[in-house]
Amino acid sequence: MGDPCDITSDQVWEDQRAAYDAMRSRCPVAHDDGTWMVLRHAEVVAAATDPVTFSSAFTPRRAIPNSLDGAEHAAFRRIVDRYLTPERVAREEAQCRSHAAAIIDSLPRGVTVKTVAQLGVPFAVRSQSSWLGWPAELEDELVAWMADNHAATRSGDRSRTAAVAERFDALIHGLLDARRDADPGTDLTAELMHETVDGRPLTDEEIVSILRNWTAGDLGSLATSIGVVVHFLASHPDEQERLRQLSTPTAGRAAPAGRAAPAGRAAPAGRAAPEGAMALEDAIEEILRIDDPFVSNRRRTTREVNLGGETIPAGARVILNWTAANRDPLVFPDPDAFDPAAHAPDNLVFGIGPHVCPGRALTLMELRVVTEELLRRTTAITLSPERPTVRETPPVGGWARVPVVLR
Ligand code: HEM
Repeated sequence: MGDPCDITSDQVWEDQRAAYDAMRSRCPVAHDDGTWMVLRHAEVVAAATDPVTFSSAFTPRRAIPNSLDGAEHAAFRRIVDRYLTPERVAREEAQCRSHAAAIIDSLPRGVTVKTVAQLGVPFAVRSQSSWLGWPAELEDELVAWMADNHAATRSGDRSRTAAVAERFDALIHGLLDARRDADPGTDLTAELMHETVDGRPLTDEEIVSILRNWTAGDLGSLATSIGVVVHFLASHPDEQERLRQLSTPTAGRAAPAGRAAPAGRAAPAGRAAPEGAMALEDAIEEILRIDDPFVSNRRRTTREVNLGGETIPAGARVILNWTAANRDPLVFPDPDAFDPAAHAPDNLVFGIGPHVCPGRALTLMELRVVTEELLRRTTAITLSPERPTVRETPPVGGWARVPVVLR
């Protein structure tokens, strides 16, 4: 019989969520040689909010801002945050809505549709491309790249992952070259090229790294999140109906004049946020808590530290498992219960601490808009009777396939 706190578990390949639930009930912090996986809510929060002990500089490769610590992280984070404010996100809403409407209208009715491949991926790529000012012709290349990146990551073959990363960097370098003499007002990518840090311009490597993090990881997260949301709607007909009512254009009273959107939320441009839209974003964040597709992030300890009764040595590889923490019964007594209001204060889908996701407002707006359009343009969404749903495999969570029938 193996160590009950061993991270390795065959069940992870069948159903990560269930495997982590079982692991967390045995050990708040599981471990294998040199690697410690933090599973309980309290310990994940403690580690994520102590960046001095749990450093984000876990690899020699510099990722901006993800792998930076301290003052250097704060300087780059100020730049990133400027591009993801609720006001800027609100300006993207109409464009995202037209992408969602066009994709959903092109999907057949009454037959099986692949949610992630036919809705999630094209919506993620189109929305991110128009946000960044990238040409529509790049979409096919980005879709192909996402598939290759996904396959390379799952293979665990580092040379394959490195080759895919290089292909992506070459693609972005081409976009930078095309904007070398462009006015900063041309598009968001040109604007980023005019940023400075500590009084000097950003290097090409730094710009590429920022753009890599906005696209490489996040296109995939957006596409899988759409799979999780649609799976929830299809398997919870009562909630689907309630959210359908909330999604009608007149749903919810307009918020009182002058009321700003809550922190981290985008108010639709030019007017106060309708309460229906806010309620839908709360519902989406709760659906992602129950089945969090963005499983984990890494850290490295800078000193020996005690966490959840375990002594972790200095220099250890630490994995913060958001998916497990978001289902910790010590905080969410019934982890599968859908209760946005009660669970929102402890929801860790977008992380916590200095590295908390700067893309939260953008992501929630995009997921809300695609959900609204899906519910407005259909009368029912059901799981396909012909094809099974298929779970994703590590390191990605959620669903690889969510075949549904739209009516
Ligand atoms: C469903 C979609 C998404 C989820 C679940 C998600 C989740 C997260 C989480 C949990 C973190 C914390 C990482 C850590 O503590 O190490 C994070 C960081 C980050 N996210 Fe997101 N994210 C999503 C989409 C996006 C999007 C669309 C963008 C940008 C356009 C974005 C940009 C970033 C960046 C730059 C960081 C690093 C922040 C830093 O190190 O200071 N994310 N995200």
